[in-house]
Amino acid sequence: MPIEVDLHNKIFHLSSRNSSYVMALTSQGYLAHLYWGKRLAVSPALLRVLPSMSRPFSLTREQDSLLSLDLLPQEYPGFGHGDMRAPAYQVLLSDGTTIIDPKYQRHRVVAGKRDLAALPHIRVGSPDNAETLEMELKDAYSQLQITLVYTVLTDLDVIVRSVSFVNHSRNSMRLLRALSSTVDFLEQSWEIISLPGAWGRERSIQRNSLAQGIISVESRRGTSSHQANPFLAMVSPDTTEERGEVFAFNLVYSGNFLAFCERDQYSQVRSGIGINPLDFSWLLEPRETFQTPEAVMVYSDKGLEKMSWTFHTLYRHHLNQGQWQHLDRPILINNWEATYFSFTEEKLLEIARAASNLEIEMFVLDDGWFGERDNDRKSLGDYEANSGKLPHGLGVLAEQVKQQGLTFGLWVEPEMVSQDSDLYRQHPDWCLQVPHRSSSWGRNQLVLDLSRPDVQNWIIEILSKVFQRADIAYVKWDMNRSLSEMGSSSLPKERRQETSHRYVLGLYHILDVLTGLFPKILFEGCSGGGGRFDPGILYYMPQIWTSDTTDAAERAKIQYGTSLIYPPAAMTAHVSGVPNHQLGRITPWDARHWIAMSANFGYELDLAELTSNEKTQAAQYIHFYKNTLRKLVQWGEFSRLQDPFTTNGMSWMFSDSERNEMVVVYLSLRTEANPNRTWIKLRHLNPDFLYRIKDCSRQQESTGSGEVLRGDELMNVGLCVWPRYDGFTQAWHLVRESLAMSQV
Ligand code: DGJ
Repeated sequence: MPIEVDLHNKIFHLSSRNSSYVMALTSQGYLAHLYWGKRLAVSPALLRVLPSMSRPFSLTREQDSLLSLDLLPQEYPGFGHGDMRAPAYQVLLSDGTTIIDPKYQRHRVVAGKRDLAALPHIRVGSPDNAETLEMELKDAYSQLQITLVYTVLTDLDVIVRSVSFVNHSRNSMRLLRALSSTVDFLEQSWEIISLPGAWGRERSIQRNSLAQGIISVESRRGTSSHQANPFLAMVSPDTTEERGEVFAFNLVYSGNFLAFCERDQYSQVRSGIGINPLDFSWLLEPRETFQTPEAVMVYSDKGLEKMSWTFHTLYRHHLNQGQWQHLDRPILINNWEATYFSFTEEKLLEIARAASNLEIEMFVLDDGWFGERDNDRKSLGDYEANSGKLPHGLGVLAEQVKQQGLTFGLWVEPEMVSQDSDLYRQHPDWCLQVPHRSSSWGRNQLVLDLSRPDVQNWIIEILSKVFQRADIAYVKWDMNRSLSEMGSSSLPKERRQETSHRYVLGLYHILDVLTGLFPKILFEGCSGGGGRFDPGILYYMPQIWTSDTTDAAERAKIQYGTSLIYPPAAMTAHVSGVPNHQLGRITPWDARHWIAMSANFGYELDLAELTSNEKTQAAQYIHFYKNTLRKLVQWGEFSRLQDPFTTNGMSWMFSDSERNEMVVVYLSLRTEANPNRTWIKLRHLNPDFLYRIKDCSRQQESTGSGEVLRGDELMNVGLCVWPRYDGFTQAWHLVRESLAMSQV
């Protein structure tokens, strides 16, 4: 069983295929953390990891006692009575004090996992796939109950944690901090990996060693943000893609978050992740409950690749469960970079016809189709088709697109409002706002207050009408600014600091209802590109526009960093025009294809303007994607082979789980004159099998086509590239043939 409880020694052992997570009760009733790492046969001897010592300036709970909360590794530490490290939670009681001393009350082990009512969560399917430990702690003075919930997935090295707070007293209390998980580690050297970025430069890989002090990753922007991702991994200094231990945390949440690692005076390390305590508090009235988001904790004993595979498998199978989870994602053409706001029905149909000739599968109408939206200063909120641009309406356009053999998709930005809109004129109070303070602007727009049920209902109603007005197969859900002036005209002042979390809950409610009402629509998340790329959004929408940067070289880095946690099936990528609209670079047509085809593939340029040569090549790429690459992107395993952040090239590999078929992609980011050859060593092949290799890029002369090589040679010598210019790409399709002769 994944959860074993030794009642005599009060030890709780959560084990997955390769990992153990162990906690124990101290004689005073504190819940201590003993171990997380490679799977162990746990015995009471493990209790020796608990320190029994006195140290200067580390306080003890009793006189002459050797129990110091400052030294004790704990499961959910508080602040104020001896532990001086960063706490997991803090609560302001009605008497003005903040000390809470929760002790063990009872525990339950249940099969499977409970769903969370108002928050996105991991779904385990059959109860046989997981077991859950609910650990109830209670503070006798305040009557606050804290329940720590741990779900262990049987087949993956994953523990999902969350916490609920219940006020059993007669007085209200206020949560000031309520993280989803903290883990204390024994003394060891750590490096911390995070995914910082900016608009257009999302999720670069950053690795820092952890000295005494804190490394924190956080968003204060109301969304998970371009600048940070709710992810942090602790790795040993020798950890690589293939080797070393990794302890990784990812929050299933789309708002402000905090993830940190603190190394204290004795090199004890505490990591934590949860809702950002900054500008957060939650009034907990008697009998009320507060539920935190879920934290996903992944252990890998085989480096970063295994960590990524665990996240990828978890998110592909246990997060979004709509029908699109299992269907081929359509190759689409999006009109944004082709026309921006300036288009006519005829121009759109011209692009759709060109797409149809290339056997592209979907046409997506982006921003600018409604109200008087000829620029980004107006009409957000007024979702009636613009009669000048679409004289026959949305339904007719969708029908005409359908006649070209394409399905129809539509852009919306429902969380925002333009001041110059009928919606704002009717409901100025529907914006996020703080009395006596003017609102800040982002992209000339204001933010609708999604914490308000009337605003939630309006969005559900208006979008339902839009989605019924035409045959809509896809929706791009955009969100183009950070949140500020976090206040709601509908919340009393004592609840103002609940606004940002209530906004996120409101968004989840809207998405829950709309995805339930329109189960056939493929929803794609977007926030100025990848500004809200997190598991909370992926729970409702199986794919996300990864970045507004469409240049292939920059995109390669963004997709590479994103792949640390999120599977290629969660990313979308488009071939766009040159010079690139974000940075002016001219990247070859082939490079643009190989990077876009390494995710959910599409185009975003005026297809009607392609040369006949470009059309021929595009048709070949589309054919290859449909017949070979799409299934590997959606369902295959993804290996990062060459790091674009530390080398001047990038390569990655898609493979089916049996290793019968693989596609390897290489891109040169920066080439020198008279360059060296580069060798790409593959991974996970069978050393004794032969693989037929087809160079499916168009630079076929360098390795020839149809070569047959042994697995051990491909893994130890590799594929050869001779990158002759910036943006040079090469790609190979490998098919396993048979055992090599020497093995027969
Ligand atoms: C930001 C998105 O990321 C773009 O792809 C595009 O949809 C624009 N918004 C439209 O305003």
